[in-house]
Amino acid sequence: MTRDEVLNALWQRADEYVSGEELARSLALSRTAVWKAIRQLREEGYTIESLPKRGYRLLSGSDVLSDEGVRRHLRHRELRLQVCKTISSTNTVLKSLAAEGAESGLVLLSEEQTAGRGRMGRSFYSPPGSGLYLSLLLRPAMQAGDATRLTACAAVAVCETIEELAGRPAQIKWVNDVFMDGRKVCGILTEASIDCETGELHYVIIGIGVNTHPPAGDFPEELRGIAGPAFGTGELPELRCRLAAGILDRLADYAENPAAPAIFEGYKKRSLVLGREIRILSPGREPVPAVAEDLAEDFALLARLPDGSLRRLSSGEVSVRL
Ligand code: BTN
Repeated sequence: MTRDEVLNALWQRADEYVSGEELARSLALSRTAVWKAIRQLREEGYTIESLPKRGYRLLSGSDVLSDEGVRRHLRHRELRLQVCKTISSTNTVLKSLAAEGAESGLVLLSEEQTAGRGRMGRSFYSPPGSGLYLSLLLRPAMQAGDATRLTACAAVAVCETIEELAGRPAQIKWVNDVFMDGRKVCGILTEASIDCETGELHYVIIGIGVNTHPPAGDFPEELRGIAGPAFGTGELPELRCRLAAGILDRLADYAENPAAPAIFEGYKKRSLVLGREIRILSPGREPVPAVAEDLAEDFALLARLPDGSLRRLSSGEVSVRL
């Protein structure tokens, strides 16, 4: 597709001017075809400057998150995407849509969140231009207790997609934080509504926040040394669209059979805590030292306490020295 060829050519020389003549020659296109592709890319939101005699310059910061952009890389055509420039929180808004009856497979994605939420009532830093924030609504026929499996599916889907795009390994800090090079690059917040009579899920919302690039300036003081970006600058055109599509495709595949052994193996082999000294954190209590000994088949963490007993952690939080 002409548009893709022009985008790729500009991206390879991001922030530099490339003449229309050179683009046309190297891509074997007419000057008009190049100009039309530039116009389309600008309409999609790409910042492409032009100067007489110098040509076109794509600004590397203009990685546009768009419905068409994600769809271009998405296999699961049944997913319905709503892409926003800014939103309070994709989880919060999707929760209200779910309560109003929205169907399974609806996805909210945003460039920015003004009230992004993390686990344990924390906030999630979600500035524009340097992250991907998305939530997927599912209505699986599943007991509430099994929802943890979906979080694990999401963690594996995120790791595999980041690894494919960045070419570097990602790890999972139990229960659902994704780390690269000792920094948290992604957090996952799974929220559900449950039928109290049957214990079945009405719906589940899987919210995923990835720090894709270094934020303008830096991470806020309290996140420095803890959070990090999954990618450097200018790695691939349409990076956030590819990332969103890769995560959603894998998650949609895995959610069809969350008990598949491959998901468990994909999670376990990336574990950042297994075999290491950890601290079990509970609100209002002293941290308890332990060794993360194993992972149960339902993703509970089996932790050996100093008195020799084994504690099974189904949810909560642990810390590990990195
Ligand atoms: C955590 O690290 O504690 C979980 C963070 C989850 C953040 C994502 S971003 C998309 C979705 N919307 C939210 O408000 N939170 C989740």
